[in-house]
Amino acid sequence: MPGPRPKHTPDPSIEFSPRVSPPTTPRKVIIDVDPGVDDAIALTMALFDPRLEVVAVTAVGGNVPPEQATANVQALVAYLDPPRLPRLGAAPDDVALPARPYSVHGSDGLGGVDLPRVNLHAGHASEKVIWECLRAHPREITFVALGPLTNLARVLQRDPSIAEVIGDLVICGGTLHGCGNATPTADFNLYCDPAAARHVIREPVTKTLVPLETTGQVLLGFDVLDQLPAEESRAGAIVRGMLTHAFRAQRQILGSEGIHLHDAVGLVAATNPELFERTTVTADVEVTGELTSGMLVIDRRQIRRGRPNADVLTGCDAAAVQDCVLRGLAAAATT
Ligand code: RIB
Ligand code: CA
Repeated sequence: MPGPRPKHTPDPSIEFSPRVSPPTTPRKVIIDVDPGVDDAIALTMALFDPRLEVVAVTAVGGNVPPEQATANVQALVAYLDPPRLPRLGAAPDDVALPARPYSVHGSDGLGGVDLPRVNLHAGHASEKVIWECLRAHPREITFVALGPLTNLARVLQRDPSIAEVIGDLVICGGTLHGCGNATPTADFNLYCDPAAARHVIREPVTKTLVPLETTGQVLLGFDVLDQLPAEESRAGAIVRGMLTHAFRAQRQILGSEGIHLHDAVGLVAATNPELFERTTVTADVEVTGELTSGMLVIDRRQIRRGRPNADVLTGCDAAAVQDCVLRGLAAAATT
């Protein structure tokens, strides 16, 4: 790992200018993560995006156990040292995570990049941090869920009226046609805590789901490593380390040459919605099926029961989304 932050002279050929001119006031977001390499990539982008004010980063168990998720959030934020330090939430440790047949994230969840372990905050519970931030900024915050929905569901269970003060909700997860990654029918985030996912999707909150078929349209080839920020920058060092691991794991475990960064696409869905097609649906989450637990069930009947309760992103301009990811990472390396 590089030592003290070198004076990084921005590469003039990489100029991070958001596709839309930054709003006068940055958009407040809470990023809920189970880091995980793609969570960490999305978090790196968000922390240095001038259009966003990351009010809080809240950890949840999923790709890694809760304690590891909390430690990874703290280590990433400390190491990246963003212009504005967000509040940090500690993952609840009373959840039972399903066994995973394999992981492309590595045993530490970050592809083995050896970040200094820190304890930035006293470890306030994620649900407490989320509740306090939403109450402090009613209807201003976009909650970006990049892991299992455990934290948000708990906040909603503890105080159902909190639904009225959530500005927007973007959820990386679900499937359009039941082609899962955790099981044949479910994506990992909904599969990890289907009851939480059902609770959230049934809430009267404006929500957008970014399903696997859409995030999967962005397939990064090995050549992307040449387009990442320089190794000398802190962001460059860890992004290169994590993605190198991800490519190797993808090839060794799954025999494929490309990688998906589902959560990074999920973040771009929040910052650049113009790059995505969407449709409004009536959906729910299966919680008991032996083969279908965690499956996003979309009611496509002509005469469906229930009111539409979510937008689902049905496709994206994959090249433009990939460009947003690379620009976001470049921005993280220039400050
Ligand atoms: O299914 C999408 C999820 O799977 C992402 O959040 C990624 O972190 C992986 O766990
Ligand atoms: Ca994740």
